Amino acid sequence: MVTASAPGKLYLFGEHAVVYGEPAVACAIDRRATVTVEARDDDHLRVHAEDLTLDGFAVEYGRDPGDADVDVPEGLVEAATGYVDAAVEQAREAADAPDAGFEVTIESDIPLGAGLSSSASVTVASIFAATRELGTELTPAEVAERAFQVEYDVQDGNASRTDTFCSATGGAVRVEGEDRRSLDAPSLPFVVGFDGGAGDTGALVEQVRDLGNEYGFAADTVEVIGDLARRGEDILLDGDVAELGRLMNFNHGLLSALGVSSRSLDAMAWAARDAGAHGAKLTGAGGGGCIVALDPGEETRTALQYSPDCEEAFRAELDTEGVRVE
Ligand code: PMV
Repeated sequence: MVTASAPGKLYLFGEHAVVYGEPAVACAIDRRATVTVEARDDDHLRVHAEDLTLDGFAVEYGRDPGDADVDVPEGLVEAATGYVDAAVEQAREAADAPDAGFEVTIESDIPLGAGLSSSASVTVASIFAATRELGTELTPAEVAERAFQVEYDVQDGNASRTDTFCSATGGAVRVEGEDRRSLDAPSLPFVVGFDGGAGDTGALVEQVRDLGNEYGFAADTVEVIGDLARRGEDILLDGDVAELGRLMNFNHGLLSALGVSSRSLDAMAWAARDAGAHGAKLTGAGGGGCIVALDPGEETRTALQYSPDCEEAFRAELDTEGVRVE
């Protein structure tokens, strides 16, 4: 039996634009998905998921996840069977054990589908744990690459390498196309607001792609987000929190223009700014989920807690540790 964990992450700059080759800057945070994997003596998978934001459930199936018979919302079955099944397939391939079966138990304190990389963290931790259970040790970079393949397949090609690389390596990262590097970033006073909802990453990426194809100014907006991410990276390395916040506000506005914000994400961003945060923006695909704000004091978290649009507000720290054995 092997237990591994991997951190969630938030985007400081560049989500969506990164899918079209622009740079993005993201930070791993101290919320983790933990996956325990135990080999079975048949080729079945049994996935048991516990998540602070979900009711626990269990699903067992043979080689075809379509056989799964469970009484939970489709999105949760997809989360359990889609990412985990593809992660297990990657582990089988890496360990040259095509018929390996597993008991998989997932625990996570990362809100699901909310822009904090819950799926990437589960995928990274699953590949890491399952390969070790089969006696194969992959480096974080190898796990990241296999996890990216999983996200790419499950999200129908609508994925960048940011989430999986950041979750596998930890710390702050910059991703531009296939170029992935770690950044020596200072710790920042993150406050996260979660509206209790989730966005459909694949659908939102398609929506931005369609908009960019239809309007030149939408494609230009994507490029401007790339410019912002380049500037943001320099400011991050300088540690100028006030300027970082201004750029985050700008990035949120551009994402909003591309139609991927929502009423509750906008409301939480404004609640944070009104409370004195240096800046606030949605993180991840959008449509619902989380915002990230910068505030060294308690005001933003308190304001978010009292905001009717916010279900949960919490501080987050940069987590310099990526995937690890627990
Ligand atoms: O919401 P998340 O954490 O899945 O982030 C999606 C970020 C996108 O840029 C929209 C897609 C991607 O894979 O980079």
